[in-house]
Amino acid sequence: MAQLWGGRFTKDTDKLVYAFNASIGFDQRFFHEDVAGSRAHVKMLAKQGIISQEDRDTILGGLDSIEADVDNGRLEITDEYEDIHSFVEANLINRVGEAGKKLHTGRSRNDQVALDMRLYTRKQVRETDDLLKHFLGTILSIMQKNVDTIMPGFTHLQKAQPVTLAHHLGAYFEMFRRDRERLADIYDRMNYCPLGSGALAGTTYPLDRDMTAQALGFYGPTINSMDGVSDRDYLIEFLSALSMIMMHLSRFSEEMIIWNSNEYRFVEIDDGFSTGSSIMPQKKNPDIAELVRGKTGRVYGALVQLLTTMKGLPLAYNKDMQEDKEFSFDAMDTAKGCIHLFDGMLETLKFNKDIMEKSARHGFTNATDAADYLVGKGVAFRDAHSIVGKIVLYCIDKKCGIDDLSLDELKQFSPSFDEDVYDAISLKTCVDKRLTTGAPGKPAMENEIASCIEYLKNSDSLIERA
Ligand code: ARG
Repeated sequence: MAQLWGGRFTKDTDKLVYAFNASIGFDQRFFHEDVAGSRAHVKMLAKQGIISQEDRDTILGGLDSIEADVDNGRLEITDEYEDIHSFVEANLINRVGEAGKKLHTGRSRNDQVALDMRLYTRKQVRETDDLLKHFLGTILSIMQKNVDTIMPGFTHLQKAQPVTLAHHLGAYFEMFRRDRERLADIYDRMNYCPLGSGALAGTTYPLDRDMTAQALGFYGPTINSMDGVSDRDYLIEFLSALSMIMMHLSRFSEEMIIWNSNEYRFVEIDDGFSTGSSIMPQKKNPDIAELVRGKTGRVYGALVQLLTTMKGLPLAYNKDMQEDKEFSFDAMDTAKGCIHLFDGMLETLKFNKDIMEKSARHGFTNATDAADYLVGKGVAFRDAHSIVGKIVLYCIDKKCGIDDLSLDELKQFSPSFDEDVYDAISLKTCVDKRLTTGAPGKPAMENEIASCIEYLKNSDSLIERA
């Protein structure tokens, strides 16, 4: 048990207490962030004349060797240390002696952990954004190829009106575009450096917080030191953004599961992204989509866990906050993995365009257009709605579509029907005539796609902002 704070104590910590208190099992994730923070701190201490140049160089050399040895496996991070901060400091002192004892001047583990977690989360925000950017590219390329692929649009999971595959996927493009915007917002709000907040009240040393903030790629230092050590809002915001991403992915997953079903057969999931059954030889299951849908709960769980942990915490640092890590790490891994896998599944997905179009042909998706046709002939919409309703009832009985009826049959329902009705209610016309901004008609859809292309070209990636 290597502790940094033995001086005030006369007894050793109970073994169970030690294990209960320790965080090394999980905070070793931000080993590199911890070293980076120490480098920035020690350079600043020297520049401010708080430690000598010689000590600075000795400490930096020690940190380099520790980092190199951990990376190449010569130095193992073990639970003999309480947390990653203790691990780095103890090893530094072990390697460079007296100078190492000066590293923690004007610093507390409270601002250190606040910094490490923020640096680690910032990296995760960037990586998530990058995955989303790639995923949007996949969605867009399918949209571009399917401006003419007609399919039924649904409400209540009932066929409603014909749309196109490009239009349907365009809805997902918008969801994930908003998710990226949320990440960018979070990034901008969180990108301030808590280092130099001390335990809670700053320090009596003349620290240059602007210098460390800049060295670590932050916009500047956090404003208030008590807030600096006890703020985890950025993490809650990120978990909330991840929850939203998972919610979108789970909706998309659900649709792919339905579309891949024997009843729909709109899509076929690639063999590489499906699994079989141990007993039923015919099975090819959409497990990836189901797991993405299923893992959504884990990410929501992390959000609720952290909100609950932070609820009612008095200022400033409390040990409760150590509980911000494990679930958050799990949520970050889960969400990134899900975006990546779903993206791969979508990239290799085969769309059965004939089946989609055939499906739109059945289910009276052109009924609204039939009513609109009558309106064009001078019938009031409410009457037109009722006339077409009766036609649909008649067709259900005859097991046919509206456009399968003869003009004589149609005229029995309304004398306003004419030969041009067939063209007016063809699926192609139904789609082509929907030209309002955001609708599936070709020119409208092409505008939408152009704006998506423009967006992807110009939206600066958070990775590049690093
Ligand atoms: N392991 C702690 C955490 O994760 C580091 C900060 C400890 N500070 C303290 N005063 N006990 O939050």
